[in-house]
Amino acid sequence: MVLSANRKRIVTQRITTFDEFRTAVSAYRLPRVLLVALELDLFTTVGDRSWTILDLAKELKVSERGLSILCRNLAAVGILRKQGASYRNSRLGATALNADHRAYRGGYLNLIKSHWADWIRLLESVRSGLPIDHDTPDSPDYRRQFTWAMHHRTLEIAPAIAAQISFAGSTTLLDLGGGPGTYAMAFLAKHPLLRATVCDREAALEVAKEIACTHTVRRRLSYLPLDFSSEPIPGTYDEIWYSNVLHIYSPEENQAIFRRAWAALRPEGRFIIQDAFLHDREGVHPVEASLFAVSMLLFTRGGNTYSTSETTKWLKEAGFVSVKPVPLKKGTEDWEDGILEASVPGPRLKTTVRRTRSSRNRKAR
Ligand SMILES: C[S@@+](CC[C@H](N)C(=O)[O-])C[C@H]1O[C@@H](n2cnc3c(N)ncnc32)[C@H](O)[C@@H]1O
Repeated sequence: MVLSANRKRIVTQRITTFDEFRTAVSAYRLPRVLLVALELDLFTTVGDRSWTILDLAKELKVSERGLSILCRNLAAVGILRKQGASYRNSRLGATALNADHRAYRGGYLNLIKSHWADWIRLLESVRSGLPIDHDTPDSPDYRRQFTWAMHHRTLEIAPAIAAQISFAGSTTLLDLGGGPGTYAMAFLAKHPLLRATVCDREAALEVAKEIACTHTVRRRLSYLPLDFSSEPIPGTYDEIWYSNVLHIYSPEENQAIFRRAWAALRPEGRFIIQDAFLHDREGVHPVEASLFAVSMLLFTRGGNTYSTSETTKWLKEAGFVSVKPVPLKKGTEDWEDGILEASVPGPRLKTTVRRTRSSRNRKAR
């Protein structure tokens, strides 16, 4: 597999030889080993002691032969440490992967465990163009689990991003589709004068409240239960943060949401979108952004990943101006070059704004 980067620093993964194809297609092996370890809850059982294969196999009720090959592979990538005939957890195994540790990321681990069975069904979605479970309602139980998964996914990314976005001069922020509120809390921690509202479905907001209750910024945090794909957004904000929601919806649905966001921002207010944007002219790179669209095919009716240029066009059509990328330090991003900001025109364009705002409001409902 060749890893290369073009002038725009887009990482591409090229498959041009049969060997590269074989390597790419065999990549399922390590993920399968890792997921079986999670299914056995192996890292929790190993805990903070050292185990022989014999004892661990008895404890996990699996074969010695199977476990020794599994553990050898986990040791080969450093998640377990092998010392003579014994195995113990690495730091990662003992913390984020261990259900008995306070840093356990169970929400996210459960989500990725279930993805294996979902991705096996990709052919169904490619044939039908529909999500695999299109009849399953979005139950509160699922929403709770998913919201915890989002929190566990974003715990470290959110503060790193918050450290690089300035909200100077702003006092109100709406975290639209904010789920666990991890970003809202990171922004509040960085900006003492800011107040934030997390807008999501009721079940997601319950999780957000549980997470916030031990957080010092909770007094500046409020909650707005709303289906923003069909209802106008009440209130007026200085900033709207729309992170990892764009890909859930079709172009038309996003355009309607952009109009609602526009109507809920004050003049010169800012709409900041974070997502897995495509950056090249053909709209195929980065690979990660194209792969993410596969998840949207499996799980949503109209979702996809979009290029920065088409998103910019929709933003301008909704009335936004000054659309531009927000550069972040490499290695601290959620997605490669994954943030775009846009503004509502200021007082100089007042007449146009008023006219546009009222017509946009009508359309948004
Ligand atoms: C992928 S999660 C992203 C969570 C968070 N913004 C982040 O970046 O980690 C998308 C969130 O948007 C919420 N959401 C999607 N469509 C929504 C709608 N129409 N009304 C309310 N919430 C919605 C989901 O419930 C979910 O919490």
